[in-house]
Amino acid sequence: MKKITVISGSIREGRKSHFVAQFVNKRLNDIDEVNSHLLDLKEYPFPIMEIRMNLAESPPHRMKEFSDLLSESDGIIIVSPEYKNGIPGALKNALDYLNPQIFKHIPLGFVTVSSGGFGGLYCLSQLRLVGLALGGIPIPEKLCVSIVQEVFDTSGMLRDKSFSEKTVKFLHDFLWYVQRLST
Ligand SMILES: Cc1cc2nc3c(=O)[nH]c(=O)nc-3n(C[C@H](O)[C@H](O)[C@H](O)COP(=O)(O)O)c2cc1C
Repeated sequence: MKKITVISGSIREGRKSHFVAQFVNKRLNDIDEVNSHLLDLKEYPFPIMEIRMNLAESPPHRMKEFSDLLSESDGIIIVSPEYKNGIPGALKNALDYLNPQIFKHIPLGFVTVSSGGFGGLYCLSQLRLVGLALGGIPIPEKLCVSIVQEVFDTSGMLRDKSFSEKTVKFLHDFLWYVQRLST
C-alpha cells in the first residue's frame, strides 16, 4: 500500500482549489494499493514562522503532526492556487517551518490552480524550487487548472468532464515515480 498525502494549499474563504484537492484525493483513493490523505492547510493555522521547527523549544500546535504526515509519505501532491504570480503566503509559511531535507527521496507532484487562463504556471515553477530545497523530487509532469470556476461549480461538483481524464493521466505518471522510488 502506498501512502500519499495531498496538501490543500488554500485557506481562503470561498477557496476553489480545495475542490481540486478533494477531487485529486478521491481519484487517488479509487486506485488499488493507494491510501491517500487530504492534508487541509486550513486545519493547521500556523503563525508566521519566526523559528524553524527543529530549533523551536515548542513548535506551533500540530506542527509535528503536519511534518510527520509529510515525511512518512511515499509521495506528496501539493495543490496550490496562484496568488500574485506566486505561492500563497500561508502555504509557503507552513513549508518554511519544515526541516530542510524532510522530503528526501519523496516524489512531489504539483497541481496549480488559477481563475485566469495560465493555470498557475508561475506558482508551479516556484513550488518546484521549494520542493527541491526540502530534498524532494519534483516530477516533470504537472496538472495546471485554468479558469477553475469553469471546471468545478460553486458547490464543488465537476463541470468539465475532460478534467477527470487529465487527472487520471497525471496520477498515473505520479504513481510511476512513487513505485520506482520506493523499491
Ligand atoms: C490574493 C490573490 C491573488 C491572486 N493572484 C492571482 C494571480 O496572480 N494569477 C491568477 O491567475 N489568479 C490569481 N488569483 C485568483 C486565484 O487563482 C483564484 O482565487 C482561484 O480560485 C484559486 O484560488 P483559491 O483556491 O483561493 O480560490 C488570486 C487570488 C487571490 C485571492
